[in-house]
Amino acid sequence: MKDVNYAEVSGLILDHLAHGGIFFSVKDKQGRVNTMNTAWGGPAFYWNKNVYVAPIRHDRHTLSLLQNAESFTISVPLHGQLKKELAYVGTHHGYNEDKFAGCNLSFAEAKSVDSIIIDQCDLHIECEIQLVTEMDKAGMDKNVYDKCYADGDMHVLYFGEVVACYRTDL
Ligand SMILES: Cc1cc2nc3c(=O)[nH]c(=O)nc-3n(C[C@H](O)[C@H](O)[C@H](O)COP(=O)(O)O)c2cc1C
Repeated sequence: MKDVNYAEVSGLILDHLAHGGIFFSVKDKQGRVNTMNTAWGGPAFYWNKNVYVAPIRHDRHTLSLLQNAESFTISVPLHGQLKKELAYVGTHHGYNEDKFAGCNLSFAEAKSVDSIIIDQCDLHIECEIQLVTEMDKAGMDKNVYDKCYADGDMHVLYFGEVVACYRTDL
């Protein structure tokens, strides 16, 4: 395990977001865990902190766990592995199944927050939630709204301070 510079690995994260997505994981205060695929959002800098911004739609089981959690994690498979698993967790819902068992995916304890990471991944970002905010149609470009939110289900934005950033393949 090697700590790495968030700014330096941000390009890797953006590249994986745009090409298949990455794992977004949560553990709530009751110890319930879940993971899903996210392909939007990404690294940012707010409040003089390194931040990760994740957009989560209302119907995700992940969102119901996040509402009772203080952190989330991002896990990135840097070497082309876990493509089937990313597709699985991006198309199945944790409210009616254990997705880890469903696709033989394993997780480990995060090191700096009370959460989990996907241990077959290589790059992990652990975040403490700083801000939760709803998108507002009133301020959105109409073309973006029509293309991405025609059904009215807009994202909830989770801003997390990066408290650990490390690789497990180095
Ligand atoms: C490639 C890919 C990218 C995705 N990106 C997002 C995303 O950024 N935000 C989101 O809310 N859902 C996204 N999804 C959809 C969720 O991963 C999907 O609805 C998942 O089944 C939710 O799981 P859950 O109900 O267990 O939370 C994506 C799905 C795929 C396949």
